Amino acid sequence: MPRIAYVNGRYLPHGEASIHIEDRGFQFADGVYEVVTVVGGKLADEEGHLTRLARSMNELSIPWPVKPATLRFIMREVVRRNRADNALLYIQVTRGAAPRDFRFPKDPAPSLVLTCRRTAFQPASLLEKGVSVITMPDIRWLRRDIKSVSLLPQVLGKQKAFEAGAFEGWQLDPDGYVTEGCSSNAWIVTADGTLVTRQPSNDILNGITRLSLLECARELGIAYKERPFTVAEALAGREAFISSASTFALPVTRIDGKPVGDGKPGPLARRLRQAYMDHVGTPDPASIK
Ligand code: PDD
Repeated sequence: MPRIAYVNGRYLPHGEASIHIEDRGFQFADGVYEVVTVVGGKLADEEGHLTRLARSMNELSIPWPVKPATLRFIMREVVRRNRADNALLYIQVTRGAAPRDFRFPKDPAPSLVLTCRRTAFQPASLLEKGVSVITMPDIRWLRRDIKSVSLLPQVLGKQKAFEAGAFEGWQLDPDGYVTEGCSSNAWIVTADGTLVTRQPSNDILNGITRLSLLECARELGIAYKERPFTVAEALAGREAFISSASTFALPVTRIDGKPVGDGKPGPLARRLRQAYMDHVGTPDPASIK
Protein backbone atom coordinates (compact mmCIF):
# COMPACT_ATOMS: atom_id res chain seq x y z
CA MET A 1 0.00 0.00 0.00
CA PRO A 2 1.60 3.30 -1.05
CA ARG A 3 1.90 6.19 1.36
CA ILE A 4 -0.39 9.03 0.41
CA ALA A 5 0.44 12.70 0.81
CA TYR A 6 -1.76 15.75 0.36
CA VAL A 7 -0.34 18.67 -1.64
CA ASN A 8 -2.36 21.74 -2.53
CA GLY A 9 -5.67 20.04 -3.24
CA ARG A 10 -4.46 16.62 -4.36
CA TYR A 11 -3.92 13.28 -2.66
CA LEU A 12 -0.87 11.69 -4.27
CA PRO A 13 1.44 8.72 -3.78
CA HIS A 14 4.24 9.95 -1.55
CA GLY A 15 6.93 9.56 -4.24
CA GLU A 16 4.96 11.64 -6.72
CA ALA A 17 4.04 14.45 -4.35
CA SER A 18 6.04 17.64 -4.91
CA ILE A 19 5.97 21.39 -4.57
CA HIS A 20 7.20 24.20 -6.81
CA ILE A 21 10.94 24.99 -6.70
CA GLU A 22 10.09 28.61 -5.92
CA ASP A 23 7.92 27.69 -2.98
CA ARG A 24 8.91 30.11 -0.22
CA GLY A 25 9.11 27.25 2.24
CA PHE A 26 12.01 25.90 0.16
CA GLN A 27 13.57 29.29 -0.69
CA PHE A 28 13.24 31.08 2.67
CA ALA A 29 11.85 28.58 5.23
CA ASP A 30 8.88 30.96 5.05
CA GLY A 31 6.38 28.60 6.61
CA VAL A 32 5.07 26.90 9.70
CA TYR A 33 4.12 23.38 10.66
CA GLU A 34 2.44 21.13 13.18
CA VAL A 35 2.97 17.51 14.15
CA VAL A 36 -0.18 15.78 15.35
CA THR A 37 0.06 12.30 16.75
CA VAL A 38 -2.36 9.60 15.75
CA VAL A 39 -2.57 7.11 18.62
CA GLY A 40 -4.87 4.14 18.43
CA GLY A 41 -6.57 5.85 15.47
CA LYS A 42 -7.22 9.04 17.47
CA LEU A 43 -5.85 12.49 16.71
CA ALA A 44 -4.19 13.62 19.94
CA ASP A 45 -4.78 17.23 21.00
CA GLU A 46 -6.16 18.25 17.62
CA GLU A 47 -7.68 21.47 18.98
CA GLY A 48 -4.46 22.60 20.57
CA HIS A 49 -2.39 21.93 17.46
CA LEU A 50 -4.83 23.76 15.19
CA THR A 51 -4.97 26.70 17.58
CA ARG A 52 -1.17 26.92 17.58
CA LEU A 53 -1.05 26.55 13.78
CA ALA A 54 -3.45 29.49 13.48
CA ARG A 55 -1.28 31.51 15.87
CA SER A 56 1.95 30.71 14.01
CA MET A 57 0.37 31.67 10.67
CA ASN A 58 -1.05 34.84 12.16
CA GLU A 59 2.33 35.88 13.59
CA LEU A 60 3.82 35.57 10.07
CA SER A 61 0.77 37.00 8.23
CA ILE A 62 0.29 33.78 6.27
CA PRO A 63 -3.38 33.37 5.35
CA TRP A 64 -5.21 30.06 5.85
CA PRO A 65 -4.63 27.90 2.75
CA VAL A 66 -8.06 26.28 3.27
CA LYS A 67 -10.81 26.80 5.83
CA PRO A 68 -10.09 25.25 9.26
CA ALA A 69 -13.00 22.82 8.81
CA THR A 70 -11.54 21.71 5.46
CA LEU A 71 -8.14 21.20 7.08
CA ARG A 72 -9.74 18.97 9.72
CA PHE A 73 -11.32 16.96 6.91
CA ILE A 74 -8.01 16.64 5.03
CA MET A 75 -6.24 15.54 8.22
CA ARG A 76 -8.71 12.69 8.67
CA GLU A 77 -8.59 11.81 5.00
CA VAL A 78 -4.78 11.56 5.00
CA VAL A 79 -4.90 9.34 8.10
CA ARG A 80 -7.64 7.21 6.51
CA ARG A 81 -5.89 6.84 3.16
CA ASN A 82 -2.69 5.78 4.91
CA ARG A 83 -4.60 3.34 7.14
CA ALA A 84 -2.63 4.81 9.99
CA ASP A 85 -3.51 3.76 13.53
CA ASN A 86 -0.28 4.90 15.12
CA ALA A 87 1.35 7.66 13.16
CA LEU A 88 2.74 11.15 12.97
CA LEU A 89 0.71 13.54 10.88
CA TYR A 90 2.71 16.52 9.54
CA ILE A 91 0.92 19.65 8.45
CA GLN A 92 2.99 22.29 6.70
CA VAL A 93 1.82 25.68 5.50
CA THR A 94 4.12 28.01 3.57
CA ARG A 95 3.57 31.42 2.04
CA GLY A 96 3.43 29.62 -1.29
CA ALA A 97 5.28 29.77 -4.60
CA ALA A 98 6.26 33.15 -6.03
CA PRO A 99 9.21 34.62 -7.97
CA ARG A 100 12.08 34.83 -5.50
CA ASP A 101 11.82 38.13 -3.63
CA PHE A 102 12.27 38.63 0.09
CA ARG A 103 9.17 40.79 0.31
CA PHE A 104 5.78 39.07 0.61
CA PRO A 105 4.08 38.31 -2.74
CA LYS A 106 1.13 40.59 -3.55
CA ASP A 107 -1.43 37.81 -3.92
CA PRO A 108 -0.19 34.99 -1.73
CA ALA A 109 -1.46 31.48 -2.44
CA PRO A 110 -0.20 29.55 0.58
CA SER A 111 0.91 25.95 0.10
CA LEU A 112 -0.53 23.18 2.22
CA VAL A 113 1.22 19.83 2.56
CA LEU A 114 0.16 16.94 4.78
CA THR A 115 2.11 13.74 5.20
CA CYS A 116 1.53 10.81 7.47
CA ARG A 117 4.17 8.39 8.69
CA ARG A 118 3.32 5.29 10.63
CA THR A 119 5.32 4.88 13.81
CA ALA A 120 5.58 2.45 16.69
CA PHE A 121 6.51 5.33 19.04
CA GLN A 122 8.93 4.41 21.82
CA PRO A 123 9.46 0.80 22.76
CA ALA A 124 8.54 -0.06 26.37
CA SER A 125 12.25 -0.65 27.06
CA LEU A 126 12.95 3.05 26.47
CA LEU A 127 10.34 3.98 29.06
CA GLU A 128 11.81 1.53 31.54
CA LYS A 129 15.38 2.79 31.09
CA GLY A 130 14.76 6.43 30.28
CA VAL A 131 16.74 8.37 27.70
CA SER A 132 19.87 10.50 27.82
CA VAL A 133 20.24 14.10 26.69
CA ILE A 134 23.25 16.28 26.04
CA THR A 135 23.31 20.05 26.46
CA MET A 136 24.26 22.65 23.87
CA PRO A 137 23.95 26.42 23.43
CA ASP A 138 20.60 27.56 22.07
CA ILE A 139 21.58 29.16 18.76
CA ARG A 140 18.04 29.77 17.46
CA TRP A 141 16.28 33.04 16.58
CA LEU A 142 14.26 35.08 19.08
CA ARG A 143 10.77 33.91 18.06
CA ARG A 144 10.86 30.30 19.16
CA ASP A 145 7.16 30.56 20.07
CA ILE A 146 6.39 30.31 16.33
CA LYS A 147 6.51 26.75 15.02
CA SER A 148 8.60 27.76 12.02
CA VAL A 149 9.95 25.26 9.47
CA SER A 150 13.30 27.01 9.87
CA LEU A 151 14.82 24.14 11.84
CA LEU A 152 18.53 24.24 11.04
CA PRO A 153 19.65 24.72 14.67
CA GLN A 154 17.55 21.72 15.66
CA VAL A 155 18.89 19.66 12.76
CA LEU A 156 22.45 20.38 13.95
CA GLY A 157 21.52 19.83 17.60
CA LYS A 158 19.78 16.51 16.98
CA GLN A 159 22.69 15.29 14.88
CA LYS A 160 25.13 16.23 17.63
CA ALA A 161 22.97 14.39 20.18
CA PHE A 162 22.74 11.35 17.90
CA GLU A 163 26.51 11.28 17.43
CA ALA A 164 26.93 11.45 21.21
CA GLY A 165 24.55 8.49 21.62
CA ALA A 166 21.88 10.71 23.20
CA PHE A 167 18.17 10.82 22.41
CA GLU A 168 17.73 14.59 22.59
CA GLY A 169 19.64 17.86 22.93
CA TRP A 170 18.72 20.30 25.68
CA GLN A 171 19.42 23.85 24.59
CA LEU A 172 20.81 26.41 27.04
CA ASP A 173 20.25 30.16 27.08
CA PRO A 174 23.25 32.50 27.64
CA ASP A 175 22.64 32.39 31.43
CA GLY A 176 22.90 28.60 31.50
CA TYR A 177 19.18 27.91 31.89
CA VAL A 178 17.55 25.18 29.82
CA THR A 179 15.22 26.62 27.19
CA GLU A 180 13.87 23.33 25.79
CA GLY A 181 14.82 20.23 23.83
CA CYS A 182 15.56 20.43 20.10
CA SER A 183 12.08 19.03 19.43
CA SER A 184 10.54 18.74 22.89
CA ASN A 185 9.89 20.66 26.09
CA ALA A 186 12.04 20.00 29.15
CA TRP A 187 10.79 19.19 32.65
CA ILE A 188 12.30 18.34 36.01
CA VAL A 189 11.11 17.32 39.45
CA THR A 190 13.23 19.24 41.94
CA ALA A 191 14.82 17.82 45.08
CA ASP A 192 11.78 19.02 47.09
CA GLY A 193 9.38 17.29 44.67
CA THR A 194 8.13 20.28 42.66
CA LEU A 195 7.40 19.78 38.99
CA VAL A 196 9.15 22.52 37.00
CA THR A 197 9.05 23.49 33.33
CA ARG A 198 9.98 26.79 31.69
CA GLN A 199 7.18 29.35 31.35
CA PRO A 200 5.91 30.13 27.84
CA SER A 201 7.55 33.14 26.20
CA ASN A 202 9.35 33.87 22.93
CA ASP A 203 12.20 31.70 24.27
CA ILE A 204 10.39 28.39 23.79
CA LEU A 205 7.71 26.69 21.77
CA ASN A 206 4.66 26.39 23.98
CA GLY A 207 4.20 22.65 23.49
CA ILE A 208 0.68 21.38 23.11
CA THR A 209 1.65 18.21 25.00
CA ARG A 210 3.20 20.49 27.63
CA LEU A 211 -0.10 22.34 28.04
CA SER A 212 -2.05 19.09 28.33
CA LEU A 213 0.43 17.70 30.86
CA LEU A 214 0.03 20.84 32.98
CA GLU A 215 -3.73 20.31 32.84
CA CYS A 216 -3.19 16.68 33.92
CA ALA A 217 -0.97 17.89 36.79
CA ARG A 218 -3.70 20.29 37.94
CA GLU A 219 -6.30 17.51 37.82
CA LEU A 220 -4.02 15.17 39.78
CA GLY A 221 -3.26 17.89 42.35
CA ILE A 222 0.46 17.83 41.49
CA ALA A 223 2.14 21.13 42.40
CA TYR A 224 4.12 22.75 39.60
CA LYS A 225 6.05 25.92 38.83
CA GLU A 226 6.64 27.42 35.41
CA ARG A 227 10.15 28.87 35.60
CA PRO A 228 13.59 28.33 34.07
CA PHE A 229 15.94 25.74 35.61
CA THR A 230 19.63 24.93 35.24
CA VAL A 231 21.29 21.61 34.46
CA ALA A 232 22.77 21.61 37.99
CA GLU A 233 19.25 21.84 39.45
CA ALA A 234 18.07 19.03 37.16
CA LEU A 235 20.96 16.78 38.23
CA ALA A 236 20.32 17.52 41.89
CA GLY A 237 16.60 16.81 41.42
CA ARG A 238 14.55 13.62 41.52
CA GLU A 239 13.42 13.27 37.92
CA ALA A 240 13.60 14.78 34.47
CA PHE A 241 11.57 14.17 31.36
CA ILE A 242 10.72 15.56 27.93
CA SER A 243 7.36 16.10 26.30
CA SER A 244 6.22 16.38 22.70
CA ALA A 245 3.56 15.08 20.35
CA SER A 246 5.73 12.08 19.51
CA THR A 247 7.23 11.30 22.93
CA PHE A 248 4.25 12.21 25.20
CA ALA A 249 6.18 12.29 28.51
CA LEU A 250 9.46 10.39 28.27
CA PRO A 251 11.83 10.04 31.25
CA VAL A 252 15.34 11.49 31.00
CA THR A 253 17.78 9.59 33.20
CA ARG A 254 21.13 11.08 32.09
CA ILE A 255 22.21 14.61 31.25
CA ASP A 256 25.66 14.99 29.69
CA GLY A 257 26.46 11.49 30.94
CA LYS A 258 25.53 12.22 34.57
CA PRO A 259 22.59 10.49 36.28
CA VAL A 260 19.43 12.38 37.21
CA GLY A 261 18.41 11.43 40.76
CA ASP A 262 18.99 7.70 41.18
CA GLY A 263 19.41 7.32 37.41
CA LYS A 264 16.04 5.59 37.00
CA PRO A 265 12.77 6.88 35.56
CA GLY A 266 10.67 8.44 38.29
CA PRO A 267 7.05 8.03 39.40
CA LEU A 268 5.83 11.52 38.46
CA ALA A 269 6.79 11.20 34.78
CA ARG A 270 5.06 7.83 34.73
CA ARG A 271 1.87 9.19 36.32
CA LEU A 272 1.76 12.15 33.98
CA ARG A 273 2.34 9.98 30.92
CA GLN A 274 -0.52 7.72 31.98
CA ALA A 275 -2.74 10.74 32.64
CA TYR A 276 -1.87 12.08 29.19
CA MET A 277 -2.82 8.79 27.52
CA ASP A 278 -6.12 8.86 29.46
CA HIS A 279 -6.62 12.43 28.24
CA VAL A 280 -6.13 11.25 24.61
CA GLY A 281 -8.41 8.31 25.40
CA THR A 282 -6.16 5.48 24.29
CA PRO A 283 -3.78 2.98 25.91
CA ASP A 284 -0.09 3.86 25.96
CA PRO A 285 1.32 2.55 22.64
CA ALA A 286 4.51 1.66 24.55
CA SER A 287 2.56 -0.91 26.54
CA ILE A 288 0.95 -2.50 23.46
CA LYS A 289 3.07 -5.50 22.53
N1 PDD B 1 8.38 19.07 17.94
N2 PDD B 1 9.77 22.43 21.47
C1 PDD B 1 10.20 22.28 20.20
C2 PDD B 1 11.35 23.09 19.73
C3 PDD B 1 9.53 21.37 19.35
O1 PDD B 1 9.94 21.24 18.07
C4 PDD B 1 8.43 20.62 19.84
C5 PDD B 1 7.68 19.65 18.98
C6 PDD B 1 8.05 20.81 21.18
C7 PDD B 1 6.88 20.08 21.77
O2 PDD B 1 5.67 20.58 21.24
P1 PDD B 1 4.39 19.65 21.12
O3 PDD B 1 4.12 19.11 22.49
O4 PDD B 1 3.33 20.56 20.65
O5 PDD B 1 4.73 18.54 20.15
C8 PDD B 1 8.72 21.73 21.95
C9 PDD B 1 7.68 18.21 17.01
C10 PDD B 1 7.16 16.95 17.61
C11 PDD B 1 8.59 17.96 15.79
O6 PDD B 1 9.12 18.94 15.30
O7 PDD B 1 8.73 16.83 15.36
